[in-house]
Amino acid sequence: MEDVAAIETRSLVKRFGNIEALKGVDIRLERGEFFGLLGPNGAGKTTLIRILTTLLMPTSGEAWLYGYHVVKECARVRHLIGVVPQATTCDLDLTARENLDIYGRFYGLAKKERTEQIDYLLKMIGLEERSEDLVATYSGGMRRRLEVARALVHRPSLLILDEPTLGLDPQSRYMVWRLLKRLKDDYSLTILLTTHYMEEAEALCSQVAIIDHGKIIAVDTVEGLKKSVHERDKVELRLEAPAGVDPVTTVRTLEGVKDAGLKEGLLTVTVENSQRGLPAIFEALRKKDVKIQEVRTTHLTLEDVFIHYTGRPVRDEETRKVSFFIGAGVPRKWGR
Ligand SMILES: Nc1ncnc2c1ncn2[C@@H]1O[C@H](COP(=O)(O)OP(=O)(O)OP(=O)(O)O)[C@@H](O)[C@H]1O
Ligand SMILES: [Mg+2]
Repeated sequence: MEDVAAIETRSLVKRFGNIEALKGVDIRLERGEFFGLLGPNGAGKTTLIRILTTLLMPTSGEAWLYGYHVVKECARVRHLIGVVPQATTCDLDLTARENLDIYGRFYGLAKKERTEQIDYLLKMIGLEERSEDLVATYSGGMRRRLEVARALVHRPSLLILDEPTLGLDPQSRYMVWRLLKRLKDDYSLTILLTTHYMEEAEALCSQVAIIDHGKIIAVDTVEGLKKSVHERDKVELRLEAPAGVDPVTTVRTLEGVKDAGLKEGLLTVTVENSQRGLPAIFEALRKKDVKIQEVRTTHLTLEDVFIHYTGRPVRDEETRKVSFFIGAGVPRKWGR
């Protein structure tokens, strides 16, 4: 059992009629890992999460959580996991404490244990003072934090969150990040989250898998993923070029330069290494009497990595998905 993975999937396929949402997904999460599943809308993230959390049957393939089969041993799996689904599902007509208590009862926790755990969780998410207020009066960020707490009532080994900060303002997003970081650092909880926020994966995750069109196309640490894309930096130079001088042709053929483009006086050059490439760029431009007014260097981001692997940026369709369909007052079924 020692080397049993927290999550392991083998050739998971899910079809909805003609739509193949998952096309043979293999992932492995070690215990204690903070794993990010990064992908654009429709990539298959929620479908994968729903299979792992026993809410959906795979069309083919298999998955195990801590060695338990998600289909054949679903009851055991449900006790191991805490889930924060994509749409918020807190009961608005109840207080935070009542929301948590219902879950504690679902999991069969005795009153004393429930009260202790709930007090502890309310403190951890910073909602003790509002715990007797109706959730309807909470902000989106507070509701999200409450949902994280709700997922932890029964002390799961694995926390699974589907786009936990979607639609939150930056401050609330940061508070959720801080909470997740703390859970990871202080309690060695294994965490799987899906996101299409690059900075979220970069800030939190020890491993990142990029999923697109139902397929995992890369898995590595953030650093590893960056390295897998040939190291490149972007240099932006604000210029004033004399008539007849084309800065793009001036720099394009220099050693280490991968690409160059000019837009409204801003020359953007992609170089293998900005430290090595910049002196030659300066020199070539100087020789043509091009005046350099400003220089800015940006290093490779996870967004660049995503574009490299998928050919397009992760679209941030926040406006489309900002509504969480708050109001579904019925507690989720998975915990029963
Ligand atoms: N119940 C369903 N019936 C039919 N098609 C579905 C169903 N659930 C998901 N799909 C389809 O499967 C594909 C993957 O959807 P999924 O919800 O897993 O994507 P996602 O990566 O979570 O996207 P988002 O970032 O928008 O949440 C999409 O084409 C979607 O339309
Ligand atoms: Mg989704």
